[in-house]
Amino acid sequence: MDKPKVVLGVSGGIAAYKACELLRRLTESGHDVRVVPTESSLHFVGAATWSALSGHPVSTEVWNDVHEVPHVRIGQGADLVVVAPATADMLAKAAHGLADDLLTNTLLTARCPVVFAPAMHTEMWEHPATQENVATLRRRGAVVIEPAVGRLTGVDTGKGRLPDPGEIFEVCRRVLARGPVGPDLAGRHVVISAGGTREPLDPVRYLGNRSSGKQGYALARTAVARGARVTLVEANTGLPDPAGADVLRAGTAVQLREAVLKAAADADVVVMAAAVADFRPAEYATGKIKKKDGQEPAPITLVRNPDILAEVAGERARPGQIVVGFAAETDNVLANGREKLRRKGCDLLVVNEVGERRTFGSEENEAVVLAADGGETQVPYGPKEALADTVWDLVSSRLG
Ligand SMILES: Cc1cc2nc3c(=O)[nH]c(=O)nc-3n(C[C@H](O)[C@H](O)[C@H](O)COP(=O)(O)O)c2cc1C
Repeated sequence: MDKPKVVLGVSGGIAAYKACELLRRLTESGHDVRVVPTESSLHFVGAATWSALSGHPVSTEVWNDVHEVPHVRIGQGADLVVVAPATADMLAKAAHGLADDLLTNTLLTARCPVVFAPAMHTEMWEHPATQENVATLRRRGAVVIEPAVGRLTGVDTGKGRLPDPGEIFEVCRRVLARGPVGPDLAGRHVVISAGGTREPLDPVRYLGNRSSGKQGYALARTAVARGARVTLVEANTGLPDPAGADVLRAGTAVQLREAVLKAAADADVVVMAAAVADFRPAEYATGKIKKKDGQEPAPITLVRNPDILAEVAGERARPGQIVVGFAAETDNVLANGREKLRRKGCDLLVVNEVGERRTFGSEENEAVVLAADGGETQVPYGPKEALADTVWDLVSSRLG
């Protein structure tokens, strides 16, 4: 089989060096990558690097190899175009359909999915001109990955940083796998909780659970690739931030509730994939609890934590908001799942059987998605992103 053809557009930002890593990931995973840099970007990374790493000739303009009509052929033949980093200038040109170099010509001739990974100073990113250009590109079906927050060129920090190249690769991989169907969650805000809460007993100990957060992260990554604005509320996962997601951190159930309710205020969809502790210790010892010779340890009294899923589902922050819950069950899986769906009042409930070596921490999952309207979707054993895509398919059809 032919390798999928990817065009990697590189525009003139300081983050151009990170595109070398993205190129490597793409080539090493079996993609045929043609790099199309802009003239400005060659100040940051030279053509020799792109040519050597991609195994293809590199040009910035339309006047080389004219007999092969590269200004048309490169775009026409592509299965995916990704521009990383995308400068403010490149976003403006793409939004307005300019075609004054090879990359802008390629963007006009490509009929495949297009991903932009913008990177620039916060002021440039927040400028209404850039925001309008981004909105235009998204409206036309491009996936524009929100920049990350962090260190920028020089000493500044803020929003505008190019996400980790490995995470941009993950978005590209998913967009390619979806093919030409387009980003069906564009314009939607989805809130996802992931991980497991920890309920502190004293400064060094907590009551926790085995949730790794991988299913929630798979939901976040697939939602970004399907064009959604994603807020990920994570609890104790230690996983790298997915490209394009706004990541909020929570430790305990109470903190997670606060973050989810705030983010849910303008959300179209809330997915509660986090394992939230049902109980927490009634008391927190400010000093480490010591063992005392000859004495049995004091019993731990527990109190109930807030039921976030029931609260979000019961008091929808917006009309038509879709709420998805997860149920991890060890026995009577389906019966317990149906009962939980009814009790919590959510639209969809992903029910999976868990055990010490099942689901938690693994890359695979197997589940049944129960719907409030009676639907039941079996998701066979497979990667967590396949389950995530099934959830988004069900959500997407309900969003209308
Ligand atoms: C050191 C330096 C760093 C720059 N970094 C960025 C950047 O991160 N993002 C951006 O949008 N523009 C950045 N610029 C400005 C662009 O290089 C400039 O707008 C250029 O015209 C972009 O051309 P291109 O879009 O054709 O690549 C930078 C310029 C310099 C000199």
